[in-house]
Amino acid sequence: MKTRILYVAGMLGASLLLSPAVPAQEGAAATAPLSAVERSALTPSREMIEMGSSVAERACADCHGMDGISSEPGQPHLAGQRTVFLYRVLQSYQARERGNDAMTHSIGFLNEDALLAIAAYYASLAPAPVAANAGEDPQTDGGDPFASIRDDMKKCVKCHGEDGNSSGSGMPNLTAQSAEYFVHSMQAYAAGERGHKLMTKLVSGLDEQAIKDMAVFYAVQKPLRKESSSDGDAKAGEVAAEPCAGCHGDDGNASGNDMPTLAGQDARYFVKAMQAYKNGTRQHEKMFEAAENLSEAEMANLAAFYASQEPVRRNVRTPLTTAEWLGRCERCHGIDGNSTDPRFPMLAGQDQDYLKSTLRAYAEETRGSSTMHAMAAPLSQADVSRIAQHYATRAPKAVVYMQLPCEELTEP
Ligand code: HEC
Ligand code: HEC
Ligand code: HEC
Ligand code: HEC
Repeated sequence: MKTRILYVAGMLGASLLLSPAVPAQEGAAATAPLSAVERSALTPSREMIEMGSSVAERACADCHGMDGISSEPGQPHLAGQRTVFLYRVLQSYQARERGNDAMTHSIGFLNEDALLAIAAYYASLAPAPVAANAGEDPQTDGGDPFASIRDDMKKCVKCHGEDGNSSGSGMPNLTAQSAEYFVHSMQAYAAGERGHKLMTKLVSGLDEQAIKDMAVFYAVQKPLRKESSSDGDAKAGEVAAEPCAGCHGDDGNASGNDMPTLAGQDARYFVKAMQAYKNGTRQHEKMFEAAENLSEAEMANLAAFYASQEPVRRNVRTPLTTAEWLGRCERCHGIDGNSTDPRFPMLAGQDQDYLKSTLRAYAEETRGSSTMHAMAAPLSQADVSRIAQHYATRAPKAVVYMQLPCEELTEP
């Protein structure tokens, strides 16, 4: 009969069976099951630690210290880091899958045994204390994904409402539009292309990121039909709208990301926009063609038809709060970033700048990991800052793995 060994991770008196429930990813080395060699490093012999220590002294201590605690901001702490993660990361530097000249150079000559031994050595050390300048955990507010634009958006409320469903006559609804169209419109105002001085002035105070974030904010709000009066004939407008359907949808709910939705739009704004296309103050070839032969009455009919249609929210994912993101990270990196799975790095107490730059590297794929790319790519800059600060302020805890003979345990 095959002997099986169960490894138990102990942390602050609690002991946890290594969870097999972690979502594994095919082909992703970082999440592959533990090999026999890697398992042996979870409960290292004294010789292994001594060998690791002597290699570290020669090859690593200059930069990482013998205590594995970094004094350079932006450089990772290694102390107490999880063994198998360290080992696999070292292998990926050696294979040049993870690029860093200093690292590749300093481990180039080490064999597998030495890599495993230094991994076991640094993993055995007491983790760095939380940095004195780490600040406060920013999670007290739950991490509103729109926190950075709330102040700027106060300026929009008077005309466009709290949620982009404008109330005043002549004010366009901003809901039900794609984020792309919103950004495009804002850029047109910024470039002075839409002949509206106030909007041009307002946009000029916003940076690119704020505009993108606002676009998502308005796109995820529930759109409301604008209760605007129009003297047009909606029935006649419905007939006249046939040539528009290919681009703007049968009922004015456009599906293309570059197409504005017209359903529920303010009738006065609608007519003004059509006139602007017709007289060239708003330049757009296709819309000029659509508007050039329309009379004022026909425009009013079209406006009445579209204003009577129910707008539909675009298929845009509502951004998660930081608290919701952290819930996902926890699945692999453990509570407060204290991972109990030796394949997944501990994030608790890690250098804040390093956490930020590494999350950006995953997002931009300058550091390869399909698992982490999927997690990091959708994060906003604000998410990255808050997540990094959160983990940097958590107390790191080392884990100790123990081998238990199988007979003494009942399978969970
Ligand atoms: C010349 C300075 C230098 C030397 C020597 C050096 N390192 Fe590094 N190490 C770095 C820097 C800088 C980084 C961050 C690089 C990056 O972001 O990929 C790093 C990153 C690492 C990481 C990744 C940590 C993580 O959390 O992802 C590990 C593991 C590591 N080093 C281990 C070692 C070991 C073991 C040695 C000795 C064999 C060593 N390093 C020698 C500078 C050095
Ligand atoms: C004083 C009222 C007012 C304020 C304040 C205001 N807007 Fe506007 N906004 C308008 C008007 C009027 C239009 C239509 C202008 C035109 O005819 O091009 C407009 C148009 C827009 C459009 C184009 C809609 C479309 O369908 O193309 C966007 C996007 C927009 N505003 C966003 C904003 C944002 C974001 C803010 C806050 C930073 C803001 N507005 C503040 C009055 C206002
Ligand atoms: C070939 C595709 C196409 C056709 C056909 C078309 N449109 Fe458009 N329409 C667009 C695009 C693209 C825009 C955005 C242009 C811009 O950036 O100013 C637009 C913009 C508009 C706007 C301004 C929306 C806003 O929020 O500011 C109105 C109103 C409009 N179209 C009405 C119509 C009507 C009415 C018809 C039919 C008579 C029509 N369109 C036909 C592509 C089309
Ligand atoms: C499905 C499991 C999984 C989830 C969920 C996950 N991670 Fe990871 N994470 C990993 C793995 C595996 C690695 C090691 C990848 C590598 O080798 O670069 C990693 C590495 C990291 C690193 C690099 C640590 C270091 O010391 O170099 C950071 C930072 C990180 N993850 C943050 C996060 C954050 C923040 C979240 C949530 C938004 C998250 N992770 C969610 C599995 C996961």
